[in-house]
Amino acid sequence: MKDGANVFADQSRGSDRCLDSGCLVEDIEQVLISEGEIQARVNELGAQLSATYAGKDPVLVGVLRGVFVFMADLVRAITIPIDVDFIGITRYGPSTRTQGVVRLTKDLDVCITGRHVLFVEDVIDTGLSLRYILRTLQAREPASLMVCTLFNKPRKRLFDLDVAYTGFVLPDRFVVGYGLDYDERYRNLPFVGVLREEAITRQRLPPGAQT
Ligand code: IMP
Ligand code: MG
Repeated sequence: MKDGANVFADQSRGSDRCLDSGCLVEDIEQVLISEGEIQARVNELGAQLSATYAGKDPVLVGVLRGVFVFMADLVRAITIPIDVDFIGITRYGPSTRTQGVVRLTKDLDVCITGRHVLFVEDVIDTGLSLRYILRTLQAREPASLMVCTLFNKPRKRLFDLDVAYTGFVLPDRFVVGYGLDYDERYRNLPFVGVLREEAITRQRLPPGAQT
């Protein structure tokens, strides 16, 4: 297998991005979806959503923080007037036993009652977060509520949830990049890839610590 830096160089098609030692890309074992593929698909979704929601003045709602990269690109691929808002959630509890508990940490600023709401997600895995969020949003009686996720990992889905728009179906692997993090890192990679084992097991040093 090619190393991460070479893969990244291929994916960025000769751009002069940093390939120095210390770059995040060194931790990437394999790029699953390139920057170009993501951008092309986001543009397609934007065109589709512009047609679906024409004249409906929709509100796009995302969950912080993972969705901020996708949301930023998606809204610029949409050509009709829209509102954008964000919520925050936290998941806690032993997920294998209780399937985890979800709690709202930041509520919407806009009122969605009677509005057409598109819930925008970066990745759906078990569906636990999505189920909680859809219930929370539905309780406010929007005119309609649909889901658009860039990445869908259906293998571990615990609930039957209706996802109207999917960018890419991913295998059941932990991925980073394009907003998705591991220990809050890698969100700023422009592609989606799989981490090297060493990067997962490495301890993160506190700020200022000597290596
Ligand atoms: P779910 O509640 O199991 O569907 O998980 C959804 C949330 O888990 C996402 O919004 C992400 O924050 C996180 N997540 C799931 N899979 C991945 C992944 O492969 N990489 C990074 N975060 C992930
Ligand atoms: Mg998320």
